[in-house]
Amino acid sequence: LSNGLGLTPPMGWNSWNHFACHISENMIRETADALVSTGLSKLGYKYVNIDDCWAELTRDGKGNLVPKNSTFPSGIQALADYVHSKGLKLGIYSDAGYFTCSKTMPGSLGHEEQDAQTFASWGIDYLKYDNCYNDGSKPTVRYPVMTRAIMKTGRPIFFSLCEWGDLHPALWGYAVGNSWRTTNDISDNWASMVSRADMNEYYAELARPGGWNDPDMLEIGNGGMKKDEYIVHFSIWAISKAPLLIGCDVRNLTKETIEIIGNSEVIAVNQDPLGVQAKKVRMEGDREVWAGPLSRYRVALLLINRAALRTSITANWDDIGIPPKSVVEARDLWKHETLTQNFVGNLTATVDSHASKMYILTPIS
Ligand code: DGJ
Repeated sequence: LSNGLGLTPPMGWNSWNHFACHISENMIRETADALVSTGLSKLGYKYVNIDDCWAELTRDGKGNLVPKNSTFPSGIQALADYVHSKGLKLGIYSDAGYFTCSKTMPGSLGHEEQDAQTFASWGIDYLKYDNCYNDGSKPTVRYPVMTRAIMKTGRPIFFSLCEWGDLHPALWGYAVGNSWRTTNDISDNWASMVSRADMNEYYAELARPGGWNDPDMLEIGNGGMKKDEYIVHFSIWAISKAPLLIGCDVRNLTKETIEIIGNSEVIAVNQDPLGVQAKKVRMEGDREVWAGPLSRYRVALLLINRAALRTSITANWDDIGIPPKSVVEARDLWKHETLTQNFVGNLTATVDSHASKMYILTPIS
């Protein structure tokens, strides 16, 4: 969407994966505090996004959405003021149907202009727009109504389409929103995570600055995968130029989780100004090579071992867009070291089961 937003993939936090409907203004405030105190906001995690369940089931006498009194008694505007005072941005959630998926609050279908005005007046910076309880018409009919309503407010609001990939939103999303979900919901396990990554990869060529493929939010820190698997999760999302929306409780982060979501070198791949999504350029059974170009002639490379045993994986220059005779310097983004050896023609590494190696390759001659 040409609204000047999302020139690199959005970064922040969202309440759904960890808390589902158990949200409140207090925990949103504490989350904002934690993003600052942990240093994550400085690394780029700016959006604090409230998901489903923030509003009363019925609108007020004038048809306005009403924040849930038992959990958001001070209202959303006060929360936006607080979040903004921390240098962060506030996101909210609605639905292109009559109810949101939880069915505990109304959707915006038929109220698009009114709700967009409400969000803008509160100071909202990001809107995730779900697809439950709709009228059966196509998302290509319902979603642009909200796009125009948001634009009419004059406030820059990042617009995240959440129609779960039903109608190939990568094909039409760029004119409608800043990101579009290419999959249904992720769960906190390896099989779910890699299958979201695969479905999302299919549309790689359609992502670009202003509009990104979205394989759903991060599960790192929620406990369902082992450390190497979470590193694969973060590496694939980063190289795929996916939104990096933390989905755990950032008020209680372990050292391990901070080490993963706080890896500034991997984040820099995600936020590279070129904005080109990596592709799976070679697959040999469970051994995969993912690669994509970065600015300044560099290449981001990810070797993934999806098998049960350790193996070696080779990336060939031919497959990743580097001239065959180029001498290449490799930076290991998880070891945080530049390899002493340079490489010509290919790079081979040993990769543990359900693990990965990630590099930036810089041709030096
Ligand atoms: C479905 C979406 O895909 C999820 O990310 C989440 O927003 C839930 N709905 C909320 O009900």
